[in-house]
Amino acid sequence: MIRESLYVAVDVGTTKVTTLVGVTQPDGQVEVVGAGVVPSAGVAKGAVVSIPEAQEAIQASLEEAARSSGQAIRQAYATVTGTHLEFTTRVGTVRSPHYSLPITHAEVDKAIEFAHPDEGDADRQVLHMVPRTFAVDGLKGVRNPIGMHAQRLDVEALCVTASSTPIRNLVRAIEHSRVRVSGLIMAGLAAGESVLTRDEREMGVLLIEIGGGVTTIAAFQQDALVVADVLPVGGCNCTNDLSMALSTPLENAEELKLEYGDLMPDPSKSDQVAVQPFGDGASAKVERREICRYLHDRTEEILRLAYLKARSLGYATIPPAGVVITGGVACTPGIQLLARRLYSAPVRIGVPHSLPGMDEGLTDPSFASSLGALMWCARNSTLKVKKPLRLAASLPFHLGRENGHVEEPSGQLNGNGHHANRNTSRGVEVQAAVAWLKERARRVAL
Ligand SMILES: Nc1ncnc2c1ncn2[C@@H]1O[C@H](COP(=O)(O)OP(=O)(O)OP(=O)(O)O)[C@@H](O)[C@H]1O
Ligand SMILES: [Mg+2]
Repeated sequence: MIRESLYVAVDVGTTKVTTLVGVTQPDGQVEVVGAGVVPSAGVAKGAVVSIPEAQEAIQASLEEAARSSGQAIRQAYATVTGTHLEFTTRVGTVRSPHYSLPITHAEVDKAIEFAHPDEGDADRQVLHMVPRTFAVDGLKGVRNPIGMHAQRLDVEALCVTASSTPIRNLVRAIEHSRVRVSGLIMAGLAAGESVLTRDEREMGVLLIEIGGGVTTIAAFQQDALVVADVLPVGGCNCTNDLSMALSTPLENAEELKLEYGDLMPDPSKSDQVAVQPFGDGASAKVERREICRYLHDRTEEILRLAYLKARSLGYATIPPAGVVITGGVACTPGIQLLARRLYSAPVRIGVPHSLPGMDEGLTDPSFASSLGALMWCARNSTLKVKKPLRLAASLPFHLGRENGHVEEPSGQLNGNGHHANRNTSRGVEVQAAVAWLKERARRVAL
């Protein structure tokens, strides 16, 4: 029987820190019961670069999430991104002398365990082993071997590893708030969970998540993550370009980007925009078209780089279900059309699937990885954690299991300790947090 469980996911991004609190309903669906969204600090290109600043931002996010959910937060899952992530293909094999017994989850787990890289490399940590395909007694292309009779089971898995130093820094920054990090999730994998449809994951799709500091390219096929990579470019580069080109401080540039940015502006319109330069000089008038051109050129470059990366990962052509763009930059007006022209393929903007209790403010591409992380940990948390911070596997939907995990909601970060008002006040609180973030984001220097 499925019991109600509490899950917490912390997404420490380059521009914002998001903590989401979810509860699994009796039918297994995750209900969002609280959120804490605050501007990030001490994070660059997805990695913690100043622990004290990051600690402060993370603590504010955790406290807000605890308050809005009315739950104490004692442990949380955290997303991981950055160019230190590496992706390799690994193979594992198990042999069974009992041909008469069908393959169970235990054999699958064992095969995945055998596919793990050696423990020798202390500098790297395994985040996920994502099974891509199985072979039973040499018969390749098996999607789900459970229940089959075979003497030999082979698994081919995508191994996602992270450099230990950025992981340690991230964990330290979170655990400063006396919240234990109970698992790590690759942000791109999490985003796929929240924005892709079953059909897209099945047929083959390229997910491009463009955040503030990094862009993740992740290819999904046959319901599994096939390959991925992370590039050190994102929305902050667009803001930097504007700042330099218009000789205006970063926070003004960010404001101009959000207010006037359009990658496909109407060429017949010529608006003038006031730009406050560095120093205390008078504001200058700039053509809005010019602002849009800088943004267009940089965003186009990011999309081209993502495509080149996909090609180098083996995707010479865009997969059948096309491209899904998510992350904050996916909100830029005109990006869908620009990408469609560039890729000559179907392109859509990845807005997270709606979850029960979820506030409208969270249905935004920039929350794809936070919501995905919440969904992911609710679905995968029954998997055995062989070592602290290492999740044994990341199983596709068709290999998922019943969820029976319960986390006791008690600990250091205290909410008001009950669910009583969560259905009435939660929406307003999340909305306020998101509105506040958007307002603050205009003023936060990147
Ligand atoms: N409407 C918009 N137009 C243009 N850019 C936008 C818009 N909304 C958000 N962005 C940009 O999206 C970026 C933030 O995206 P997101 O919240 O996904 O990043 P993050 O998770 O903080 O960072 P990362 O994942 O790269 O570490 C910022 O650069 C922001 O300026
Ligand atoms: Mg992000």
